[in-house]
Amino acid sequence: MDRQDQKALVGEAAAIQYVKNGMTVGLGTGSTAFYVIKKMGEMIKAGMELKGVATSKATEKLASEYGIQLIDINEVEELDIAIDGADEIDANFFAIKGGGGALLREKIIASAAKTFIVVADGSKKVQSLGQFPLPVEVVPFGYKQTERAIEKLGCKTEIRMKHEEIYLTDNGNYIVDCTFPSIENPSQLHQSLNNIVGVVENGLFINMVDVLISVNKQNEISVAIAKK
Ligand code: A5P
Repeated sequence: MDRQDQKALVGEAAAIQYVKNGMTVGLGTGSTAFYVIKKMGEMIKAGMELKGVATSKATEKLASEYGIQLIDINEVEELDIAIDGADEIDANFFAIKGGGGALLREKIIASAAKTFIVVADGSKKVQSLGQFPLPVEVVPFGYKQTERAIEKLGCKTEIRMKHEEIYLTDNGNYIVDCTFPSIENPSQLHQSLNNIVGVVENGLFINMVDVLISVNKQNEISVAIAKK
């Protein structure tokens, strides 16, 4: 089974197992979250009543195409669940997100959810985080100063580009992609990054994931619940 098939499998399984009638669901961003949204569209067509809160403008568009009624995050106190992809996830359920640039809204929505579910193909499960460059969202003003301060934490940095221009997040900010030799202490790094002036948020999701839906070596669905 290739990665695309795995993404479809875990995305659909998450929707079938966790999305129930009447729920307000945080809708993730990326190629795995796509399958959750698609399945939710089918469930709505079959008569379910669901509302969604999108983690990006791309997801807003997709959700509308699949007939999911979108509401503003400010209209709800909390979300029943949020389902999203990840770039890496370790055995502690710590994750790196933001490969698609949506980390800030993803984190706000994951924090607002009673249950945060990650859907991940097998390639996303890692021994330790850091092979995937860690995305950090920074404000454009003084971004080179901010980038230098981030570098002092021991990484190589790159300002994310798109079509030869600096990539802009949905919030009008920049992304600094940070390659560390290894991330020994994700919690500490999370704090150190967010203490840098100019940093808005970083892509480390610490103690946030409640459920990981992935595949095992036999290509079967595996559901793991985080102990908290
Ligand atoms: C978006 O900003 C990311 O956090 C995605 O959730 C993550 O990059 C996973 O994307 P895929 O499901 O496309 O691999």
